[in-house]
Amino acid sequence: MSEHRGGPVNILTAVAWPYANGPRHIGHVAGFGVPSDVFSRYHRMAGNNVLMVSGTDEHGTPIQVQAEREGVSPRELADRNSLVIAKDLQQLGLSYDLFTRTTTTNHYEVTQALFLGLLDNGYIFARTELGAISPSTGRTLPDRYIEGTCPICGYPNARGDQCDNCGNQLDPADLINPRSKINGETPKFVDTEQFFLDLPAFADVISQWLRGQSHWRPNVQKFALNLLDDLKPRAITRDLDWGIPVPLEGWRDRGDKRIYVWFDAVIGYLSASIEWAARSGDPEAWRAWWQEENARAYYFMGKDNIVFHAEIWPAMLFGYSGISDRAPNGAKPGQLGALNRPFDVVSSEFLTMEGKKFSSSRNVVIYVGDMLSRYDADALRYYLTSAGPENQDTDFTWAEFVRRNNDELVAGWGNLVNRTISMTAKNLGAIPAAGQLTDADRTLLTSSSAAFATVGALIEKNRQKAALGEVMKLVGEANKYLSDTAPWKLKNENPERMASVLHTTLQVVDDVKTLITPFLPTSSQKVHQALGGTGSWAAMPDLVEVDEPTAAGSPSYWVLTGDYQTQARWVSQPIAVGRPLAAPTPIITKLDPSVVDEELARLAES
Ligand code: MF3
Ligand code: ZN
Repeated sequence: MSEHRGGPVNILTAVAWPYANGPRHIGHVAGFGVPSDVFSRYHRMAGNNVLMVSGTDEHGTPIQVQAEREGVSPRELADRNSLVIAKDLQQLGLSYDLFTRTTTTNHYEVTQALFLGLLDNGYIFARTELGAISPSTGRTLPDRYIEGTCPICGYPNARGDQCDNCGNQLDPADLINPRSKINGETPKFVDTEQFFLDLPAFADVISQWLRGQSHWRPNVQKFALNLLDDLKPRAITRDLDWGIPVPLEGWRDRGDKRIYVWFDAVIGYLSASIEWAARSGDPEAWRAWWQEENARAYYFMGKDNIVFHAEIWPAMLFGYSGISDRAPNGAKPGQLGALNRPFDVVSSEFLTMEGKKFSSSRNVVIYVGDMLSRYDADALRYYLTSAGPENQDTDFTWAEFVRRNNDELVAGWGNLVNRTISMTAKNLGAIPAAGQLTDADRTLLTSSSAAFATVGALIEKNRQKAALGEVMKLVGEANKYLSDTAPWKLKNENPERMASVLHTTLQVVDDVKTLITPFLPTSSQKVHQALGGTGSWAAMPDLVEVDEPTAAGSPSYWVLTGDYQTQARWVSQPIAVGRPLAAPTPIITKLDPSVVDEELARLAES
């Protein structure tokens, strides 16, 4: 990285954990999936040590409610969806070092260790409060599952946490005629004892820390700072039977109290790193990303996750490390040692679908699996990077998907690859040496080699849309150069000049292949082969069934992992003169315009 000329940096790519309550749609992978993979692939190519971790988020009310709807246990539902989601993410080419699950023994142990570390330092306390429960099940009824009449404006469908009509924040106990969205019954408000994370103990520490994060996207930093105005202790247990037990005498064996799903999910970044290390053969290897001072942790997510990553998780990390506004108060790092806070919280905005909010129940949705059964992963990756919600809400439309694929990807990049390689194959059969270079040749070659610094710097700042734009600008320049120099006319009159033009263009095709690899790994592998390369250029994740590394006898499960050491390096490499070339097959599929109507018809049927 440019800031660290001293050598490779350890980069933790921490990717938000998708809920295992159903398959994921393209709005989900627009937020956390593709951006985190572009970033990781780039950093590996640039020579940094990347650890990319995530998994399925399997506890909590959303899973329990969906399991009941389907008449299966939460565990069965999670088993099924975890595998579906892992397969989808694999097909999208997301290069996780480990994509695991929150139901592993390892994750339970690490979560309980963090809980105890925070408790020992005095940042977790128990308190009895009025809480809503479902009278028929005795389970916590989360605020957003309670509906009723707004006490302020009389709107009949206000939610327990907020009235969408007048915009006021509400307390579910204030609703008139409250009812459960799950089964319509009237919630009961009872005294219930829960554990709380003492967020106010970190107000100054977090505020100071956040103010130092000037490299964050401004809207994320501002949003996070605003949250500090209203810092209250936050309940981290629930009346539920599905989740991680509280690791304390008198609590551990209770069937009705569990750790809150968000408390355990964010710990997944750490537990997955520890699981990865255990599998790597060096159980301490995770420390290089969590404890070394120069390591950098980048967290990728949609904007509804900011509060958990920019406030609650940092508070947990500070607290476990023994740092708070009250220190020194005898607090010290827990048994794992002090842990690094996020270096960046990379949040995207929302994606809508043909002008509407994604909704599985109303069929406003396209699932990742369905999308990839009909279209190439790179077509979706291209769309989500060039037209996705990087820093503002954006709308997915099928018309724009087809247009971007055909007019930009196929007509721009695919066409450049195709005509350059086929012209060379047909007329020369191999990569030619260049003769005397002209100004036009040199100008193009200079743009091409300069793109490595420009595009790399943009990806490092997570300005991926602009980064891809720079690559496509170079593609445009190369296409224009080909039209201007018209090598197909030179075969008889000036074969030496034709060779120089094709040499120059092939060099740019090879450079663009490298520059575009983080965005379009599958087609870059194809271009690598079309240019006569062999072996792995852009490695893909593997789906493998594994056992718990340290808990013999636990059930086996499926994870994504991979060996991403390849030839790909973030530099311009001189093309190999004399290497034979054959006419290529198209590297990107052109879409028939009828796709738009077909897909809109699919959306309309429910
Ligand atoms: N499951 C959450 C969601 O889909 C994201 C969890 S991210 C992590 O919104 F922090 F918990 F890891
Ligand atoms: Zn209201």
